[in-house]
Amino acid sequence: MPLGNTATRYGGVAKTFHWLTALLILTALPLGVIANGAPFETDAEIARKIWLFSLHKTVGVTAFFVALARIAWALTQPKPAALHPDRRFETRLAETVHWLLYASLVLVPLSGWLHHAAATGFAPIWWPFGQTLPFVPQSAAVANFFAGLHFVFTKVLAASVILHIAGALKHALVDKDATLRRMLPGTVAIPDTPPPQSSRTPILTAAALYLVALALGTLIGLQADRPPASSDAAQSTQTAPRWIVETGTLEVAIMPQGGTLSGGFGSWSADITFDPDAPGDRVGQVFVTVLVPSLGLGTVTAQALGPDFLDAALYPTAEYSAEILRANGAYAASGTLTVKGKSAPATLPFTVEIDGDIATLLGETVLDRRSFGIGDGYADESTLAFPVTVRISLTARRDG
Ligand code: HEM
Ligand code: HEM
Repeated sequence: MPLGNTATRYGGVAKTFHWLTALLILTALPLGVIANGAPFETDAEIARKIWLFSLHKTVGVTAFFVALARIAWALTQPKPAALHPDRRFETRLAETVHWLLYASLVLVPLSGWLHHAAATGFAPIWWPFGQTLPFVPQSAAVANFFAGLHFVFTKVLAASVILHIAGALKHALVDKDATLRRMLPGTVAIPDTPPPQSSRTPILTAAALYLVALALGTLIGLQADRPPASSDAAQSTQTAPRWIVETGTLEVAIMPQGGTLSGGFGSWSADITFDPDAPGDRVGQVFVTVLVPSLGLGTVTAQALGPDFLDAALYPTAEYSAEILRANGAYAASGTLTVKGKSAPATLPFTVEIDGDIATLLGETVLDRRSFGIGDGYADESTLAFPVTVRISLTARRDG
């Protein structure tokens, strides 16, 4: 099968891109709907919702890069002509839908990504990049604006995909022609077709539809009373005050060969919103980024940062994204910790004392190193025990 397109056939590269895109889009679409609708009342439900959103975003970002590569390739290729160009309306409709699909392939994941980058916290993308984006401020207004666009653009995408699949099925089942088969692997005989009549109507119609979608999305995004993005699972906390960390320590204690060894990370940042007086159990959210190479662990620092353990050269940051919940008279951050590229649910119980605008926070939790593939070569506890204690203490000042 030739790799490039001809005037009547799709080549191997275009077909591979087409079906890879179809797989990614048809996965990301239902995942978005399921993640969005998933409940988040209990800890287990919150962990599941975060996981679903992380998967959705990771598949979506992959689709974005595959789409860019696909479009770059399509620009170098002839577009196989429709098999029935005499059916004017049908051909124009199919081409309009193709343009809508191409535009959606870029705009849907991009709007989702911009929304994610502007929102503080929750459900990280599992790729080791892209939690924030250059020039995208972390602000609820910007996040809501892109959430509005993502909402409307996903509807344009879904409608186009439905029309597109219906068209493909009509060709296969009603017309019984080669339209679907020429997008499948292998070579198929293509009957002589009248020369295509190129028209600018399809691309102009698609552009006009996208302009309407842009206007609608903007309206929705700007609506002051729109509830905050549900992906952040922190409906009541978007307006909670922000706290700026003034001093703090992030310590870890490991247990090598029966002993205990403590150390800490010198460089990390925490973005905290927290309102102890908020009604209900959800009182804030926190997003922590840790610079892994800033770890000091005495004589074993270099070994701990090496490939067997934290692999800092390959995974220079660890991230924790969590919602702050009331728990037994104190609080607990409940969310996802990503270390060494692996994400797992992590809960950190903590206490807070507030004196005017200054909060003092103390928290401690125990993690299992195996959840993050740390020291996989040390499968039993004789060299290094599985539990790792993490302690955080900080003072923060209420912003504004
Ligand atoms: C091709 C890729 C994608 C498709 C087909 C897609 C589709 C969807 C769908 C159908 C929803 C539910 C919308 C609703 O009815 O409210 C959704 C929500 C969402 N998606 Fe995507 N998405 C894609 C990529 C992304 C990416 C790359 C990100 C972030 C990196 C992302 C982040 C989100 C977020 C945060 C929501 C929740 C929005 C809200 O709560 O208002 N999506 N997506
Ligand atoms: C089960 C699902 C799908 C089927 C059966 C299908 C089928 C087809 C067929 C038969 C063609 C060739 C049309 C022709 O020869 O004129 C085509 C082209 C195309 N498909 Fe799909 N498709 C599916 C899913 C998707 C999805 C999810 C997307 C993207 C969101 C997509 C994007 C496109 C685009 C952009 C073209 C035009 C390619 C070009 O000529 O440049 N398809 N599809």
